[in-house]
Amino acid sequence: MDLIKSPYCNRQIEIVVGNDWNILESLESELRDKNVLVLIDKGVRSLHQEAFDAIFKNMPNCQIELFTAVESNKQISSVFKLIDRISKKLPAGRNTVLVAIGGGITLNVGGFIAAIIRRGLDLVVVPTTPMAMSDVAFGSKHGCNSNEVKHYIGTYYDPKRIYLIKSVLHSIDSLKLKRNLIESVKQFLVLDKNLFNLIYQIIMSNNIDIEYLFDEIVYPSALQKIEILRNDPKEIGAGRVLLFGHAVAHPLEVASGFKIPHDEAVAIGMYVELAELVSRNIFSSHDFGKYMEILEILQIRMKNYVYSQELFAKSLFLSKLKGSDDSVALLNLIRLGQLQNDKAFISWKIEDVLKATTERVGNE
Ligand SMILES: NC(=O)c1ccc[n+]([C@@H]2O[C@H](COP(=O)([O-])OP(=O)(O)OC[C@H]3O[C@@H](n4cnc5c(N)ncnc54)[C@H](O)[C@@H]3O)[C@@H](O)[C@H]2O)c1
Ligand SMILES: [Zn+2]
Repeated sequence: MDLIKSPYCNRQIEIVVGNDWNILESLESELRDKNVLVLIDKGVRSLHQEAFDAIFKNMPNCQIELFTAVESNKQISSVFKLIDRISKKLPAGRNTVLVAIGGGITLNVGGFIAAIIRRGLDLVVVPTTPMAMSDVAFGSKHGCNSNEVKHYIGTYYDPKRIYLIKSVLHSIDSLKLKRNLIESVKQFLVLDKNLFNLIYQIIMSNNIDIEYLFDEIVYPSALQKIEILRNDPKEIGAGRVLLFGHAVAHPLEVASGFKIPHDEAVAIGMYVELAELVSRNIFSSHDFGKYMEILEILQIRMKNYVYSQELFAKSLFLSKLKGSDDSVALLNLIRLGQLQNDKAFISWKIEDVLKATTERVGNE
């Protein structure tokens, strides 16, 4: 078991990494005297039913809540309905532990309700997608949607323990798996050229070795995220780099009625931001070409989105194309030298950055 200090509240979080679901076996004895609520992604439960049942089916005082992982279930109104349902079947006292198992949607909702029921239940998370393993589980941020705004309502709340089961990734189809690496592509693109080149090769390859992917990409990406958050847990300083692409992604998700999922939307958002940086000679067109190759493999073709009249009409997309907060944030971070390290991918001439930043944000 590894221990990390939570960047958010400096508490210890236990991380258990293993190949199979049996890493959860000790939970049965550890939680014997507790009330346990397991919130599990319905799809994950049906794909891994045998392994899941072996651990949870006979656990005493355990209620299982199957959760449909769609963005509409992150709407705050749906979340309150879920809390109502739970309150009827669970004597939620301090002695209750919530175990959330699934991708980012399930972990966001699970973390949020754990934070607010009885002012805080103990939380254990089992992320089941690359994005949830490398990003959501470690971010401590739990957002729900309201009034068509992503993550309008939310909180910071740490899990006590995170279980990372490598083999759970086998049940994700190859295209979804590759798309779901996008937050790691984002991090590496900005912070680490070597890791970017590695993730590029993996995405380009025909067969992905899951264990290798976890060991070389997913887990390092999680550790890198923790490092960034350690000094900036609320992502308001250097941590803003983690929001790269999101100023476009979130409105686009909303405008599409959440038909465009988060990973795909972030890929598009990054395209928009990078195109901006290329036009300012801050990001090389050669490296942009590599990003475009990734988009091609992910079957994300800009023409499918850019020329969609409906999306244009409904979203902030166009205005974001013209001037996004993310580009400004990134330029500022570069200017302030906070992203300077010998592994940084983006090469720049400081005069260009200064010129571009001054043009854009005036004398702020
Ligand atoms: N709070 C944060 O810090 C943060 C960071 C990144 C993303 N997010 C949020 O996370 C959500 C996206 O999460 P996501 O992409 O991890 O997944 P998801 O929860 O959106 O799930 C996507 C699909 O994958 C399926 N799935 C999950 N695990 C699977 C597995 N092992 N095998 C087969 N299918 C599986 C689900 O059933 C679902 O159909 C978005 O709502 C996004 O806003 C939050
Ligand atoms: Zn994101």
